[in-house]
Amino acid sequence: MVDYWSLYSKKVIDHFQYPRNVGEIKNPSGVGRVGSPVCGDIMELQIKVEKKRIKGKTEKIITDAKFRTFGCGAAIATSSMITEMVKGKKINEALKISNKAVAEALDGLPAIKMHCSALAEDALKAAIDDYLRRESSRTKKNANYHEQRRTNE
Ligand code: FES
Repeated sequence: MVDYWSLYSKKVIDHFQYPRNVGEIKNPSGVGRVGSPVCGDIMELQIKVEKKRIKGKTEKIITDAKFRTFGCGAAIATSSMITEMVKGKKINEALKISNKAVAEALDGLPAIKMHCSALAEDALKAAIDDYLRRESSRTKKNANYHEQRRTNE
């Protein structure tokens, strides 16, 4: 009988058995939902973004991340790891997290499971896109409000 568990690193098994950051964030700043065309699994990743002053500059920092996954063990492990990796990162740093980096942080994945890590990267990028979309519509609304106030004065 094939020992399938031996295909996975200790870290993958740990994050699969004890996933970090499962659940939802109250009033998330961004939500990413993606599905894998390869296997049909689904992942949702939520982020909380807060503006913080760092070295005299205002930075957008991901202060929390949570996930829910209807997927395989590798999908659960990669979601768990990416939520750990992204916390405390600036938006532009988080956008650079690749599925390869997630797999490396887990001490590797079998080649057949690399698409599961792609799902985690896609979910994070979708959550950041959603945050940026919300931010830009908030900024436009504020600009319109101030423009209307100016014309009504
Ligand atoms: S087999 Fe579908 S995400 Fe892993």
